[in-house]
Amino acid sequence: MEVGLETTLLIKNAAQLVTSRGASEKPLTGKALGEIEVIEDGAVSVRGDNIMAVGTTEEVLRKAEITAETQVIDASGRVVLPGLIDPHTHVVFGGSREHELALKLQGVPYLEILARGGGILSSVRATRAAGREELVERGLKYCRQMLAQGTTTAEAKSGYGLSTGAEIKTLEAIGEIDAAQPLDLIPTFLGAHAVPEEYRESPDKYVDLVIEEMLPAVVERDLARYCDVFCEKGAFSVAQSRRILTAAKEMGLKLKIHADEIVPLGGAELAAELKAVSADHLLAVSDEGILRMAEAGVIAVLLPGTTFYLKEDHYAPARRMIAAGVPVSLATDFNPGSSPNNNLQPIINLACLYLRMTPAEVINAITINAAHAVGRGADIGSLEKGKKADIVLFDAPNYAYLAYRYGTNLVDKVIKKGKLVYGGEG
Ligand code: NIG
Ligand code: FE
Repeated sequence: MEVGLETTLLIKNAAQLVTSRGASEKPLTGKALGEIEVIEDGAVSVRGDNIMAVGTTEEVLRKAEITAETQVIDASGRVVLPGLIDPHTHVVFGGSREHELALKLQGVPYLEILARGGGILSSVRATRAAGREELVERGLKYCRQMLAQGTTTAEAKSGYGLSTGAEIKTLEAIGEIDAAQPLDLIPTFLGAHAVPEEYRESPDKYVDLVIEEMLPAVVERDLARYCDVFCEKGAFSVAQSRRILTAAKEMGLKLKIHADEIVPLGGAELAAELKAVSADHLLAVSDEGILRMAEAGVIAVLLPGTTFYLKEDHYAPARRMIAAGVPVSLATDFNPGSSPNNNLQPIINLACLYLRMTPAEVINAITINAAHAVGRGADIGSLEKGKKADIVLFDAPNYAYLAYRYGTNLVDKVIKKGKLVYGGEG
């Protein structure tokens, strides 16, 4: 027995322990996206923050050093997965938009509501009016919900401030929320989410402001890892998006892009050209865009919850992207307008039913590939020795059950960095 390797947490007897393996350097693509390791009677041992061993209960018990202090969780009848990762959220915003439901049901399109000064711009007014403390309080509540639903890491975008002060306020709120609770937030600057009302007649002046004032202020304060742009008709053109993302890259940020969601502008091609980490949405992606993304290794973050909520008549072409070798991930897109849902579990259902992904592909998409989409493939996203002990237990007999049941929170327990953060003992 090795000295000083006491097990602090042991999870044993899992009906299934399900994880990818060996994909910490690069996201899974093609056939490999559908391959996942299933260990019956699985176990995982943890010391401090880190996973020490993964295998059958018998194998792990042989290696574990159990002491009187070891916390033991019996996972009988449970499926054990890596903590879920949500790589696209807009979790910090003021107000809410239930009043727009009536407009939507009258058939007013999403981009038309925005053009009338509603939509994102309505949330911008509420976010500007909110104090930082209020944004933090609300963000903390959403993060508590997410943790209880199995999400242990999430990307978090600004983008409802649209002025230097309000964007900084939002990113500082994200930092404060991250520090105050267990769920890790990875901050993204999305100053180019919409053209604010005061620049309606001079959108290029707003692009100048994003590049010359906001980006340097964000980078100087080290408030974001990524820069994102909403590249869409009525938001930012490909040329404007290219200017902003190129400037962001030069300032050291990694890139994401809301691409080809409603109108096929060529956002996917731009993502490939700039070697963005991910291009997100992609309902209207072109064949050329798919090809370019596969060549450049850009991750497609698909958001079927948004497609559902916008009542779109088609979903992103996930099968074509997987066949072409694009690494695919999935996220909630949690935001106050097009996706007021912060739970990845219904995303599992939607991805299986409407993106025609298999349960194994979906689990890889919301664990290891999502880890890569937030730049954390090396330390989270799978249950492997040396990785952070972010683990979720579901009240489910097997992993396919997660794609079958819907609408009930099946999460039994959540462990973040080796600590039980949701669900009681026993
Ligand atoms: O990803 N598409 C742009 N941004 C968000 C929607 C934001 C909103 O409606 O408030 C999205 O869907
Ligand atoms: Fe979004």
